[in-house]
Amino acid sequence: MLNQNNLVLLLCTLIGLNDAYRILVVFPLCAPSHNILGKGVVNSLLESGHEVVQLTCFPDKENKTNLTQIDLSHVRERALKENKDKYEGFKLKDLVGHKNFVDTIFFYYIAYDFQKAFLTDDVMMNFLSDTEQHFDAVVVEWFFSTLYAGMGPVFQAPLIWLGTTEAHWQVLRVIDEIPNPAYTIDMFSETIPPFNFLERASGLWSIFKKYFLITCIVEPFEKYVYNNVYGAIGEKRNVTIPSFKDAAYNASILLLNSHPSIGIPFKLPQNAHYIGGYHIDIKPKPLPQDFQKLMDEAKHGVIYFSMGSNLQSKDMSDNMRDSLLKMFSGFKETVIWKFESDLENVPKNIHLTKWAPQQSILAHPNIKMFITHGGQLSTTEAIHHGVPVVGIPVYGDQHINMRNAAEKGYGIAVDLAENMADELSVAIREILNNPNYKNRAKELSALFHYRQMTPQKELAYWVEYAIKTRGALHLRSPALNVPLYQKLYLDLLLTFVLVIYVLRKMFNRFFGNKTSIKIKKN
Ligand SMILES: *[C@@H]1O[C@H](CO)[C@@H](O)[C@H](O)[C@H]1NC(C)=O
Ligand SMILES: *[C@@H]1O[C@H](CO)[C@@H](O)[C@H](O)[C@H]1NC(C)=O
Ligand SMILES: *[C@@H]1O[C@H](CO)[C@@H](O)[C@H](O)[C@H]1NC(C)=O
Ligand SMILES: *[C@@H]1O[C@H](CO)[C@@H](O)[C@H](O)[C@H]1NC(C)=O
Repeated sequence: MLNQNNLVLLLCTLIGLNDAYRILVVFPLCAPSHNILGKGVVNSLLESGHEVVQLTCFPDKENKTNLTQIDLSHVRERALKENKDKYEGFKLKDLVGHKNFVDTIFFYYIAYDFQKAFLTDDVMMNFLSDTEQHFDAVVVEWFFSTLYAGMGPVFQAPLIWLGTTEAHWQVLRVIDEIPNPAYTIDMFSETIPPFNFLERASGLWSIFKKYFLITCIVEPFEKYVYNNVYGAIGEKRNVTIPSFKDAAYNASILLLNSHPSIGIPFKLPQNAHYIGGYHIDIKPKPLPQDFQKLMDEAKHGVIYFSMGSNLQSKDMSDNMRDSLLKMFSGFKETVIWKFESDLENVPKNIHLTKWAPQQSILAHPNIKMFITHGGQLSTTEAIHHGVPVVGIPVYGDQHINMRNAAEKGYGIAVDLAENMADELSVAIREILNNPNYKNRAKELSALFHYRQMTPQKELAYWVEYAIKTRGALHLRSPALNVPLYQKLYLDLLLTFVLVIYVLRKMFNRFFGNKTSIKIKKN
């Protein structure tokens, strides 16, 4: 309850509208694409005048006012070296013919392994133990682990999770409860609602399986690391560290890197908000000169092809690569292909590039379509700029993103296959010749931009909101305090069964004999 002092404090914080805060930003999965999202958070907060400290594996080359970066790239390098064999499989040529090969178990394992490696690193430990460090809020990427939830209590600051994909049950359960699987997605599923009977049944089964895995196997491991790491830090900082469960389910706000225009309109808890698009430059950076010239002069338009930063086109089989080159050479459009090594005898209309300024390419008026792996950043950027897509989804949420793209009418999905060139060619022609895809992309783009404020401002707004309301406790879902058996009414069911049982016993006792006598008489 609020006593008078608290009330005065709360009023003061609410009235002080132009406060600049000191905010910690941590994106535990040190992958280049996630780093783009981490940078987006940092930039949004800096633009709103705050001071930011970022724990990162990819420090910027230049210093920025009000930004301090703690370099953790050595942990990433160490982890990648030690786990070389685990990541080798991420090559396009090895992934052909596999269904969504990375699923929750793999992600939980990677997340746990990575986050443990970072939390037990000396640089990290020293930073967390440094009593000079104070923060008003901590923004952490939620990536299949709640280990970093301890950063809230360490700095005695509200914790804000950022989910990097469309909303899904695994992230929503951290602040609320598991949404009804009859009409909500699992990030790894390949179907979107409405589901048929089998899809609904398999969705439910998958939740049972994963829920068991998370609560019985993953969380005990996390709890062990949590107690060791934060226990020691708590002592050094002289703060009480709550139990793992209390910290893990104590976030103030959940920000989600999606938007109903590109995803599925979820029923979100009061403290969850869509901020999809926040990583995109409001004014696209100018293209480098060679790209600008290439795109300006492409009189038949440009097809841009990139499989993202994790999956590299150079890792295709020779056969797949050559058949795609041949297929593209049959088009009059200019093709910009993000291809990470050098090739000889590339057809004239194809321009290979090891690095592509993706956002600026998509912003150019001559862009015709984007051939993508369907990652969340790529589909978001495509819709931001109103560009239709052809998707070759490979793993993770790429399948569900492309299902959404197809359903919404701005894209076509093609299966990753050795001989996909023909199918891809058909899809490209369809998008070039049928204006509906482009029109849909433009329509969705308008919906995407039609908001009360820019996603960058909204991100900063909710972080400030968490600080000013001292943790936004009033938005917490009551579901967090209700155990699963009560949500499922298992106690009611049990009571019901017991009552029936007792009634039957009593009935038999009082009337049992008479009934049997009656039967005998008849
Ligand atoms: C840096 O932060 C201070 C407050 O900590 C703020 O007054 C100032 O405007 C910020 N500078 C920039 C360039 O954002
Ligand atoms: C950035 O700041 C650090 C510490 O203040 C300093 O050592 C470094 O030289 C600066 N780098 C650049 C490029 O200005
Ligand atoms: C939960 O978060 C709120 C707001 O940041 C904080 O006041 C409270 O102490 C936290 N509770 C625990 C158990 O950490
Ligand atoms: C630790 O915190 C407690 C309560 O806040 C205080 O009484 C105690 O003096 C502190 N100890 C140190 C070593 O600062």
